[in-house]
Amino acid sequence: MAGLFISFEGIDGSGKSTQAKLLAEALENAGHDVVLTREPGGSPGAEEIRALVLQGDPDRWSAETELLLFTAARRDHMERLVNPALADGKIVITDRFADSTRMYQGMRSGDLRATVDALHDLMIGREPDVTFLIDMDPDMGLSRAKGRGGTEERFEDFGADLQRQMRQGFLNLAQDAPDRIRLVDGNRDVLDVAKDVLALANEALTHGPQS
Ligand code: ADP
Ligand code: TYD
Repeated sequence: MAGLFISFEGIDGSGKSTQAKLLAEALENAGHDVVLTREPGGSPGAEEIRALVLQGDPDRWSAETELLLFTAARRDHMERLVNPALADGKIVITDRFADSTRMYQGMRSGDLRATVDALHDLMIGREPDVTFLIDMDPDMGLSRAKGRGGTEERFEDFGADLQRQMRQGFLNLAQDAPDRIRLVDGNRDVLDVAKDVLALANEALTHGPQS
């Protein structure tokens, strides 16, 4: 059985972590072998890089350095965790992947999008089979994310305008990659969102990722 690589994307506080966990549980209960992971992070080396990029002063890194750090973390995550699990036929569910880099590093400080794509082709070289984009009102997403607290605040500090730009950017990505990205309305009860996500995941498992 071939593995399936699934990512969750969306703005901060849209419910990605909640939905990734619920999908992993549902697929495990159905008898699948599932690896639930996240970015930045997911492997010991990438988790160390996560602390470097998510903690501290918002101006800690230049946009270019930050892009290299996220890409280094992703490369390690792929080498150590994702690729071996997919080769074993497992379902890998990641909370964020390269679309986040396209948005956050590609849009934030000027236009680095072409550099992001070139580096992705050079160093990562694959997309998920299916991406769930959890779409969410930016103000609600921000208040949910702020409600969580914690120390990983470098990006959440950028505020509501950035959230709005990110939401639109993610919607544009979904339009550009309709075969891969499934849009899910996140402004609903957790379990209603989870039901839609599971149905779409089962469709991908039954008919293959391009259905
Ligand atoms: P993300 O990973 O996208 O940042 P989380 O899954 O961590 O989002 O959710 C952010 C916060 O919002 C959490 O406190 C979570 O419990 C809550 N939450 C998630 N989904 C919903 C929902 N559909 N309705 C209400 N609250 C939600
Ligand atoms: P995450 O822990 O998923 O945050 P949240 O639960 O609030 O959505 O991700 C942390 C931050 O990292 C988030 O603000 C987005 C940012 N990020 C990037 O800027 N580039 C990337 O490539 C990735 C994967 C995440």
